[in-house]
Amino acid sequence: MTPPSAAKQSLSSPLLANEPVNSEIFRLDFEWKGRAPRAGQFFMIKPKRTSVFLGRPLSAASWTKTKNENSAVGFLVARRGRGTEELAGMRPWEEAELTGPLGNAWADFLPAPDGKKIALVGGGIGVAPLEAFAAELAGRSFDFYAGFRTGFGGGEERRGMLGPALFPNGELIIAVEDGGGDLKGRIPDFLDPAKYGAVYACGPEAMLKTAAAKCAALGVPCFVSMERRMACGVGACLGCTIKTTNGSRRCCADGPVFEAERIIFDEQAG
Ligand SMILES: Cc1cc2nc3c(=O)[nH]c(=O)nc-3n(C[C@H](O)[C@H](O)[C@H](O)COP(=O)(O)OP(=O)(O)OC[C@H]3O[C@@H](n4cnc5c(N)ncnc54)[C@H](O)[C@@H]3O)c2cc1C
Ligand code: FES
Repeated sequence: MTPPSAAKQSLSSPLLANEPVNSEIFRLDFEWKGRAPRAGQFFMIKPKRTSVFLGRPLSAASWTKTKNENSAVGFLVARRGRGTEELAGMRPWEEAELTGPLGNAWADFLPAPDGKKIALVGGGIGVAPLEAFAAELAGRSFDFYAGFRTGFGGGEERRGMLGPALFPNGELIIAVEDGGGDLKGRIPDFLDPAKYGAVYACGPEAMLKTAAAKCAALGVPCFVSMERRMACGVGACLGCTIKTTNGSRRCCADGPVFEAERIIFDEQAG
């Protein structure tokens, strides 16, 4: 599905808040006076004072009205390299160029209510676009699965990481590979797709592949948000292709959300 990229905007937006969740993850809130994102959509973000040439794609994790009636868009970010380190170092009122909202949305693939719950399955920083979906799904019943490599330090860190997902209209299932008070193991191992009308997943590709295979075996529709390094973010450079059963597709403009059964997981360049 091609998104309405004509509706994207590039705006210079001041940072409203930069809150560390732990040593690796932080939350950023920017003022955003453009079109509201839908859950699953992303922005290309580049600080005004920067040493990197290209913006970095980040999924909208939240969307709020601030006290002074301006809107704010929130991101949950993991430090990876130079671009995300620069974002981590931003202070309130410093500006960044935000281009978006870009790409398609989870709700483009939402089945009509049929009495069955849906499952949101996030791995690591992949919980970010699902938090936004959890907020959007207020009227639907869903379970939220969140998987991490290591455990949380405490309640504050848990709240920082999971945000609105802590209060789903259903169960919150947390699995940690090294245990630490939560279920021990990989999150797809705890997913029984038979309980759900559809499954929505975002996280490392190995996790998406496992979740997709479990859903396919039971004929349960599964939708995955894919990640690629991006240059333009709007479908022009063909730098972010994904191999699908329909041929190559652009992660930024044809996705990032795809039907899992279309993705040829074993042939992805990563
Ligand atoms: C649609 C989309 C939504 C995203 N949403 C979020 C989000 O909400 N929060 C978040 O923290 N991150 C998100 N990412 C990933 C984020 O864009 C990258 O981590 C970031 O661009 C890395 O930039 P950098 O300059 O810090 O690292 P770089 O110096 O560019 O790279 C550091 C390391 O990360 C790897 N890497 C960089 N970009 C990607 C990528 N897109 N996929 C896989 N590996 C990559 C590089 O190969 C390298 O090993 C998203 C990516 C996409 C495509
Ligand atoms: S990043 Fe340029 S086509 Fe997707």
